Amino acid sequence: MAGAGRGPVVVTGAAGFIGSNLADRLVAEGYRVVGVDDLSYGVIEQVPEGVEFHCMDIRAPELYRLFGGAEAVFHLAAKNCIADCQSDPVETSSVNVVGTVNVFEAARRAGVGRVIYAESSALYEGSSVLPTPEGEEAPESFYAVSKVAGRRFAEAYTRFHGMATTALRYFCVYGPRQDYRRTIPPVMSAFILHLLRGERPTIYGTGEKRRDFVYVDDVNDFHLLCLTDPRTVGRVFNLGSGRSDSVREIFDLIQGLLGTAVEPRYLPDLPGEALETRAEIGAARSLGWAPRVKLEEGLRRSIAYIRQHVLEPGGAPAGGL
Ligand SMILES: NC(=O)c1ccc[n+]([C@@H]2O[C@H](COP(=O)([O-])OP(=O)(O)OC[C@H]3O[C@@H](n4cnc5c(N)ncnc54)[C@H](O)[C@@H]3O)[C@@H](O)[C@H]2O)c1
Repeated sequence: MAGAGRGPVVVTGAAGFIGSNLADRLVAEGYRVVGVDDLSYGVIEQVPEGVEFHCMDIRAPELYRLFGGAEAVFHLAAKNCIADCQSDPVETSSVNVVGTVNVFEAARRAGVGRVIYAESSALYEGSSVLPTPEGEEAPESFYAVSKVAGRRFAEAYTRFHGMATTALRYFCVYGPRQDYRRTIPPVMSAFILHLLRGERPTIYGTGEKRRDFVYVDDVNDFHLLCLTDPRTVGRVFNLGSGRSDSVREIFDLIQGLLGTAVEPRYLPDLPGEALETRAEIGAARSLGWAPRVKLEEGLRRSIAYIRQHVLEPGGAPAGGL
């Protein structure tokens, strides 16, 4: 196994969607995994078996104690529901800026030289360049601005402490454990769950908005590359599929897979949403990475997960939207 016998890897946000999938993958590859999450959005049941889990806020002064001897830190914990971030910019900057600085500081204090951290395609929300390369930056929302601030601190930790950092700019990551509990959940999990319950899903706007969807296992391939390939150090990478699909196309694809024929409910568009996101993924591809899971296959796996883990046997829902 790739990581057997090596120092532990820390994952912040380990009870969340991407963090729990990453922790799963790291455990499967033989890494010891230390997971941190305050369970503000994540749920304990999602933390994979084999992870040494600590329920802790990333802003806690004692965070560094969990980092001792670690080979690397993946920093994924964040306040990242755009609606929540817009309504509370103070808490958004507290978690996403102060919290991120505390993660870098904890790494420095514990002698961990490698930190891989989450940015977002939201940094491109004010840009009309498609596909969008990493050099293009136009943050507008409080969430996007908080992510830019995090990177400025990463650069300063590199400058003053020689820290080896990598920024990962995820597009719309989807797959098992995608958070369906939010006020406005990500489209895929919301559509699947509503249709499986026999309800009418909601589409905000006309359904023509296009998004770059990338399956969580593909993102994990790049996470692992960050642990082994020094060419990832000191750089920013878009992680997307490089193509875009409209919300209506996704809806129709899911209906086709489920064999349902329901007309969605249309509500007014959410403010500030880009018409299209599409990643330029040449930088990640040049290191040998490629998105491999096709949309239909990724959706099949997401449906299987929701059937098995979210809906109780017999079809009764285990959790509410
Ligand atoms: N999912 C996507 O498509 C996507 C896209 C772009 C960027 N991102 C970024 O990727 C990262 C992971 O996203 P996700 O989709 O897994 O989100 P998520 O909400 O499922 O996971 C984030 C986790 O962070 C935890 N957390 C929040 N505040 C915390 C705090 N103060 N201390 C400790 N833990 C805290 C939450 O409880 C949650 O479990 C985030 O940084 C997010 O901004 C995700």
